[in-house]
Amino acid sequence: MNIKDKALDYFQTNYNRFLTEYIEFLKIPSVSTDPAHTEDISAAATFLVKKLEKLGFTSVKAHKTKLHPIVLGEYLCEDSYAPTILVYGHYDVQPPDPLNEWTTEPFNPTLRDDYVYARGASDMKGQILASIYALESILKSGSLHVNIKFILEGEEEIGSPSLITFLTENKDFLKADMVLNPDAGMIAKDRPTIVVGLRGLAYFELVVYGPKADLHSGQFGGIVENPAHVLSKIISKLHDNNGKVSIPGFYDRVRPLSDDDREKINSLNISDERYKQLTGVPNLYGEAGFTPIERAGARPTLDVNGLYSGFIGDGAKTIIPAYAKAKISCRLVPDQDPEEIHNLFSKYVESIIPNTVRYEIIKHSGAPAYLGSEAPGLDNLSKALEDTWGEKVVYKREGGSIPVATWMKNILGVDSILFGFGLPDDQIHSPNERQHIPTWKKGVEALISFFLSFTD
Ligand code: BES
Ligand code: MN
Repeated sequence: MNIKDKALDYFQTNYNRFLTEYIEFLKIPSVSTDPAHTEDISAAATFLVKKLEKLGFTSVKAHKTKLHPIVLGEYLCEDSYAPTILVYGHYDVQPPDPLNEWTTEPFNPTLRDDYVYARGASDMKGQILASIYALESILKSGSLHVNIKFILEGEEEIGSPSLITFLTENKDFLKADMVLNPDAGMIAKDRPTIVVGLRGLAYFELVVYGPKADLHSGQFGGIVENPAHVLSKIISKLHDNNGKVSIPGFYDRVRPLSDDDREKINSLNISDERYKQLTGVPNLYGEAGFTPIERAGARPTLDVNGLYSGFIGDGAKTIIPAYAKAKISCRLVPDQDPEEIHNLFSKYVESIIPNTVRYEIIKHSGAPAYLGSEAPGLDNLSKALEDTWGEKVVYKREGGSIPVATWMKNILGVDSILFGFGLPDDQIHSPNERQHIPTWKKGVEALISFFLSFTD
């Protein structure tokens, strides 16, 4: 038997153990945004350290940062001219709420039909393990003819604040010929996908302060302006009637889409019906003049992610709230700059907010967009995916963000191969997140082919 068949066989034979381990990993509530989960973050990092050590990796260590640790490890093969593949992953997850919407608990992974349900199943604990199991299957079946380095962070879901410094300080260790980033996904289970663009992000929070405390709305209604009303009016002025963002200067740096870009983007042929079915809305909406697939991957947007003001419990309470806040994020495209977008937003709010309230803008994460269809190794992965699925690969510009891709390009000088075995209906960041197991298994098989594809 050749090594590929042996490795595929090894994966099949050990599949139950792998699934059990995957489930153990999913039980760790490694929510990066919540300080209450700091120890769980460490536990997830330790899980990965042990995993890599057991695989025979060297220099394996969870490196401290200002916030959550970054796990590094390497496997150096015996051939002196072997290429080096850097594999990226994030072991942190989004908060699981709203908790009451989950059919089974977010950190009690459950198998139903062909899926494993848990926070982080798809985004992206399963994707990290897919590479690890592919490598284990190869190493136990013969030898590996590429060098592998892993970089696994715990802050992706909060915008990777420690990463620029870490990449800069560990540039030598991280030197690589290729970067494998499995944090993106597929457009459907029968359509193997490689992602060639990501949107960037600028995230802020607007807090409008009215009276110094909640007021009785009978006693004081009529003499103070309600901060919930002010915030709503501001939000209503963030878009025009054509679905365009109204912040002056917002589109100034947007690189226009060429006819060729538009043709490529639209060739994926995702129907309005498909988007309606995925989202459950009665009708689609977005910026006039662009198709849904352009709007969701190649045009900038602005969204309210959360709104809070006053009394939101059951029943009724008569108050004028002391404050109102909104979490707002913009998805960015080349060549918009997150810092500049933040400034434009601040200026705009300053120009439209009335003098009856005070306000504050809190800055959260920022990341630039990414574009790159010529990452080294991309053809090898394409071929591995096509061989495994028996379908042509599609190339997609993704609407989500993965800050590390641009930073690796700038700091390490390498473009990333973006892919993953998550599906659009995995409900990432939402209740009942899940991973489709047959797709994940195919993913491991494709990765086995990929890692073996560099042996002449
Ligand atoms: N894996 C996602 C990005 C993604 C989503 C890729 C959908 C492909 C399809 C990643 O973990 C993520 O959610 N990133 C955050 C980044 C942000 C906090 C800077 C995002 O896009 O919201
Ligand atoms: Mn995510």
